[in-house]
Amino acid sequence: DGYAAERLFNQGFSYTYDDIIFLPHYIDFPTDAVSLSTNLSRNIPLSIPCVSSPMDTVTESYMAAAMAALGGIGIIHSNMPPSHQAHMVRSVKSRRVPILSNPVFKSPDSRIVDHFDDDSLPCVLVTESGTAKSKLLGYVFKSDWMSLSDKDAKLVDYMRAADSTISVPWSYDLAQIDAYLKKEERDFVLLEEGGEVLDVITKQEVERVKGYPKIGKGSVGSDGKWMVGAAIGTRESDKERVEHLVKAGANAVVLDSSQGNSIYQIEMINYIKRTYPQLDVIGGNVVTMNQAQNLIKAGADGLRVGMGSGSICTTQEVCAVGRGQATAVYKVSSIAAQSGVPVVADGGISNSGHIVKALTLGASTVMMGGFLAGSTEAPGTYLYKDGYRIKKYRGMGSLEAMTKGSDQRYLGDTAKLKIAQGVVGAVVDKGSILRLLPYTMQAVKQGFQDLGATSLQSAHDLLRSKTLRLEVRTGAAQVEGGIHGLDSYEKKAF
Ligand code: XMP
Repeated sequence: DGYAAERLFNQGFSYTYDDIIFLPHYIDFPTDAVSLSTNLSRNIPLSIPCVSSPMDTVTESYMAAAMAALGGIGIIHSNMPPSHQAHMVRSVKSRRVPILSNPVFKSPDSRIVDHFDDDSLPCVLVTESGTAKSKLLGYVFKSDWMSLSDKDAKLVDYMRAADSTISVPWSYDLAQIDAYLKKEERDFVLLEEGGEVLDVITKQEVERVKGYPKIGKGSVGSDGKWMVGAAIGTRESDKERVEHLVKAGANAVVLDSSQGNSIYQIEMINYIKRTYPQLDVIGGNVVTMNQAQNLIKAGADGLRVGMGSGSICTTQEVCAVGRGQATAVYKVSSIAAQSGVPVVADGGISNSGHIVKALTLGASTVMMGGFLAGSTEAPGTYLYKDGYRIKKYRGMGSLEAMTKGSDQRYLGDTAKLKIAQGVVGAVVDKGSILRLLPYTMQAVKQGFQDLGATSLQSAHDLLRSKTLRLEVRTGAAQVEGGIHGLDSYEKKAF
């Protein structure tokens, strides 16, 4: 019944995730027996197969910290100077709670102007020099500032003095912080390391995060800190970027190129493996076995797969190259598995079923942009449009992103005329990924259970042994498999 993957994917068609469907197999274990633990690259184990994409509307410190807390990993984008990117890596590494609040520091002689316009800011911190690195003297609550009659008063005249119970070490995790706030009956606490205040955590935030479902253990590296990756390009100047990132403690670098099979990338992989043997490097993007082989030979510790499958991508239309993502993942994974190189299925994920398909076809992780965009942890502020709360999501090959510097990925070094290979859009508020991903992973586990696979490895084995069967869905079968026959207003409510 059905087709083996080997036969289905060798008939000259390029299949997307939606084109194919697995036939159910046999269940003899509960959903909770499914383990989704995996590897990002040769030396980076993860407890969930999720990676956030290096895009400037998806992954900065906040997203990467939350991804690590969940047991996945975030890849900080490179559309900024190397020192900023390294700073973001440090910011992820310098905490053990998936909350970032960007505290504001002031000197005692200064005044508060309009800082409290930002609702997420619980207080302004007063330090000797007005920077994070000097001695903490006191703090000012928003309510103190609001009730002040003379808004021009110097902070030193009305701040509350800091005492020793106001801070805890940065290494405290959420449970420890929660216990501390309760014991000291405080509404907020500062996280400190070596006399430097790194963050402010409020009781409200702790309660919010505590309310989310728990999954797996966080991704902690050998340095005892959260794991985080960072994107790089293939220019000569990217060697300096890598150095910044290595110093900041990045666990992996991910080459950011829409066509990874190039002399530039091969030379960069060679250079990184020679200079930083400890650092995992993920090459890509690739979609064919031949491309993959070249990067594996060059020493890539992982491969990023996908060309034009992303929700904001126009590469296939603009350049006439690419591949259906299901076919690309299957083909590249079958060659990468022979060398033990994990595959990151990048782009085209819009539901948990797509994740089940990517992982079963051979990927070790999925990299997501649009699926995570619009969440609390994605960069950018929320706007309102037509009654929806939305956040911007844009392709890194869109003109707007390229003017900020990401042109290398899509233009190569010499092109002078900018041609867009992506678009700018917006996505609806999804809430926190600390809630979204646990539910999504539970759905993925149920998919694995239906396939009779208790782990990623067992799914790969079932596929290769031809036990697992699949079929192509016709257009009508795809319509039947989605929501249909409801009025459009009901669809929206869903
Ligand atoms: P999703 O489907 O998760 O895709 O939103 C995210 C992936 O899309 C790639 N990407 C682009 N591809 N033009 C492209 O052709 C672009 O402007 C662009 N921006 C991002 C990238 O691989 C990302 O992880």
